[in-house]
Amino acid sequence: MRTVLEILTGELQKAFEACGYDKKYAKVVVSNRPDLCEYQCNGAMAATKEYKKAPFMIADEVAEKLAGNPYFEEITSVKPGFINIKIAQSFIANYIDEMAKDKKLGTKDGEKKTAVIDYGGANVAKPLHVGHLRPAVIGEALKRILRFNGYRVIGDVHLGDWGMPMGLIIEMLHDEQPDLPYFDESLTQEDFDKISEPPFNVSELERIYPAASARSKEDAEFKERAHQATLKLQSGYPAYRALWKMIMKVSVADLKKNYGNLNVNFDLWLGESDADPLIAPMIDDFIRRGFAHESEGALVVDVAKEDDTKEIPPCLIRKSDGAALYATSDLATIIQRMRDYNPDMIIYVVDKRQEMHFTQVFRTSRKTGIVKEDTVLSFQGFGTMNGPDNKPFKTRDGGVMRLEQLLNDINLAVYEKVKENRDTDDESAKKTAAIVGLAALKYGDLSNQITKDYIFDVSKFIAFEGNTGPYLLYTIVRIKSILAKYCEATGNKFGTAAFETIFNNINNGMLNADVSVKDNYTGVNKAQTPSEKNLMLELSKFGSVVNTACEELAPHKLCNYLYSLSDAFNSFYHENNIMGESDKERQKGLVSLISLTRKVLETGIDMLGFEAPERM
Ligand code: ARG
Repeated sequence: MRTVLEILTGELQKAFEACGYDKKYAKVVVSNRPDLCEYQCNGAMAATKEYKKAPFMIADEVAEKLAGNPYFEEITSVKPGFINIKIAQSFIANYIDEMAKDKKLGTKDGEKKTAVIDYGGANVAKPLHVGHLRPAVIGEALKRILRFNGYRVIGDVHLGDWGMPMGLIIEMLHDEQPDLPYFDESLTQEDFDKISEPPFNVSELERIYPAASARSKEDAEFKERAHQATLKLQSGYPAYRALWKMIMKVSVADLKKNYGNLNVNFDLWLGESDADPLIAPMIDDFIRRGFAHESEGALVVDVAKEDDTKEIPPCLIRKSDGAALYATSDLATIIQRMRDYNPDMIIYVVDKRQEMHFTQVFRTSRKTGIVKEDTVLSFQGFGTMNGPDNKPFKTRDGGVMRLEQLLNDINLAVYEKVKENRDTDDESAKKTAAIVGLAALKYGDLSNQITKDYIFDVSKFIAFEGNTGPYLLYTIVRIKSILAKYCEATGNKFGTAAFETIFNNINNGMLNADVSVKDNYTGVNKAQTPSEKNLMLELSKFGSVVNTACEELAPHKLCNYLYSLSDAFNSFYHENNIMGESDKERQKGLVSLISLTRKVLETGIDMLGFEAPERM
């Protein structure tokens, strides 16, 4: 399905050509003066140079050519040379009907491309804290947006599961529980295979790591032991491998639960450890082909370029003591991803303070040719979530806040609001609060450009009015309630069954997701009120917004759109009495319009990674 912009541009192109001008000047854009017109074309201004004619003369001719064209309600030329457009009611109504029938509501499928998104970045044996919120929320939204646009997407959590923290935990356990079988040197793999119960639970694990880490800063002997334990683990010592697997088992189960609470789901639970076997052959290859060289005992790849404006240090791939580094692991992971998925694009959703690391890794990948020439390597560095003091968010006593705690706090605040708003039992208020709280948190994050820092402000995020997640949900709940009333009044059996949530549709069967409007849709009216037409105009932009959000990896553009669509709906709602409409045919048209609005909003928030409750 073509977008409205494409259709309008097509009409303008014909007119430009008929008047003897190049059609490249005929581009139509959304108006930046909505008080004057809906769309506009500024091409006459650009054409003036080529044709040596005043822009308003060109605009006049083109506008005149288009007089009487059924697509336009009004097309006027305005000095110095704008062409202002209002589109015809019948055109927009037809367009809306087509869109409602379309499986993707007018969104175009991109080329069938494969993308890997690296976006969790959690570290094993450490609880998720607020710093893990942004990569999870942004990555999940990008995954869903790309899938809806027809990409094959593989989301990988890429756990930090392999370095020194593992050695620290092992040595701490060694001191605390020396009798564990893992420290009995007479035992073999077979003995370890028989153990099914981990020797710790997740809270113990989460105590052990920080304690070990703190100790290593004061106790050099302990630190050295942990270093040795790490090397032993990495070289395959069976006892430590077995113990490491237990750490993984306990920690990953907990991470899955916590990411699950955020409605964040990974396709792959791989980590740095999975890239490890590829490191040695990769380094050999880099040396053999002359890309890596020794520098002060370490092995490096030079990545600086002549036209660099700041210094880009060489990429360090092996320390003088033989240890691999963060970059080594990321490079080997790229090799693994190319081998397993042959992606057209690898997207990293990681703290923007790691930009230099990724510059080095990307340049090394290009230089050594471990990626295809046209594989896009995209670093989506995100800004920090700050507290009210505009410094990275902390707990009241200055510590790092757990993600679980943050989510509980916001849910509690929403719960109180729900209880205030209406009489409801505790259990359903809690359920609603969990859904609304998550939306508040995710929207509060996603509505900001990825690279920007933002301030976490609970009362702002959970407000039912304004540019917030709950406002979108409130709008959806309002539409659902009108539709329920309509179904009840007309005996339309769509009633409740039709209100199944489409949440996770996109996530699961994404490529073939069919979100066309099936219930309560007979076709919209030719708009009779400005707010009715405005709602249609907003709806008709959905496809191009979704395409742009995908091309630019910009969830905030989808947020902005859903917000203005909600505004358009609410103005429409205040100006039109849907249930009180006595003309039954017109009422059907209004109901069709709000059914589509609901579908667009639900599909939109599904892409952002949250859902709407039945009531609020
Ligand atoms: N675990 C890392 C950290 O805590 C983030 C991993 C990001 N992804 C990557 N491929 N480097 O900083």
